[in-house]
Amino acid sequence: MDIANFIVDGAARGISPLEGEMATKWPEGVLSDASTSFGQSGVGASRAITPSVAFGDISPSRAESTRAVAIVAETAADIAAREALLDDAMGPKRKTKSSEKLRRGRRPSEGLAFVARDASGNVVGTVRLWDVRLGEGGAAALLLGPLAVDPSLKDAGIGSALMRHAIAEAARLGHAAILLVGDAPYYGRFGFSAARTGSLAMPGPYERHRLLALELVDGALDGVQGTLRASGHRLSVPAEARRAG
Ligand SMILES: CC(C)(COP(=O)(O)OP(=O)(O)OC[C@H]1O[C@@H](n2cnc3c(N)ncnc32)[C@H](O)[C@@H]1OP(=O)(O)O)[C@@H](O)C(=O)NCCC(=O)NCCS
Repeated sequence: MDIANFIVDGAARGISPLEGEMATKWPEGVLSDASTSFGQSGVGASRAITPSVAFGDISPSRAESTRAVAIVAETAADIAAREALLDDAMGPKRKTKSSEKLRRGRRPSEGLAFVARDASGNVVGTVRLWDVRLGEGGAAALLLGPLAVDPSLKDAGIGSALMRHAIAEAARLGHAAILLVGDAPYYGRFGFSAARTGSLAMPGPYERHRLLALELVDGALDGVQGTLRASGHRLSVPAEARRAG
């Protein structure tokens, strides 16, 4: 059993000292007070967050090689680190993906932008969810992505922890379904499949079998069809840019 099984979903609210400190710095309200922590040994163990619930045992070698990591709300102070991590993990082509069309110029869904932070406060993982409509005027849903983990910390359970936390928070906030474009062999473990996306399309080139969905509410994807549309709040344009435009 690996470290991903040592997750405390939603149970560890407000336990990270970093989180409280950063919360006051986020200007646009993209903030959730929920956090998930996992890992309890390795570098920075003295600052490790102690989960209140533990599942099973952890392989000692894996736990030792993984620094304590907490899943917390992203803050404005994380933007540069998040972008550098995405460049490292996904390369420059990441900005040409069709999902990007649904994200560009928008804010993530309220309370649904998370980072994985190591014991030193470094951003080692990121995931965000975005408000979309399924077809013109269609049902509301979330689009998840990008999900990325620091390449030096791959396969330590951080991606899974981000996914589980994101799904739990989306459900807690009352969302009905999550869609994403990704590898079914990875996302299948969280319940995603292409079974309900046959009548949906992305607004740009994509591989149909990689458009996956997870219902958080039974039947949420019944009868949905059409091309996904961005429906999130637009990023505010700075006054200077407005004057220039
Ligand atoms: C994909 C990614 C987020 C996974 O995060 P992670 O923390 O390394 O993954 P986890 O530790 O949670 O899970 C590891 C398991 O997932 C598997 N896995 C990872 N990527 C996979 C993929 N693309 N397809 C199938 N399985 C995959 C690993 O083989 C491992 O399997 P195991 O549990 O049987 O050993 C990470 O590798 C990453 O950032 N990749 C580059 C960016 C990217 O491709 N993002 C996803 C876009 S679809």
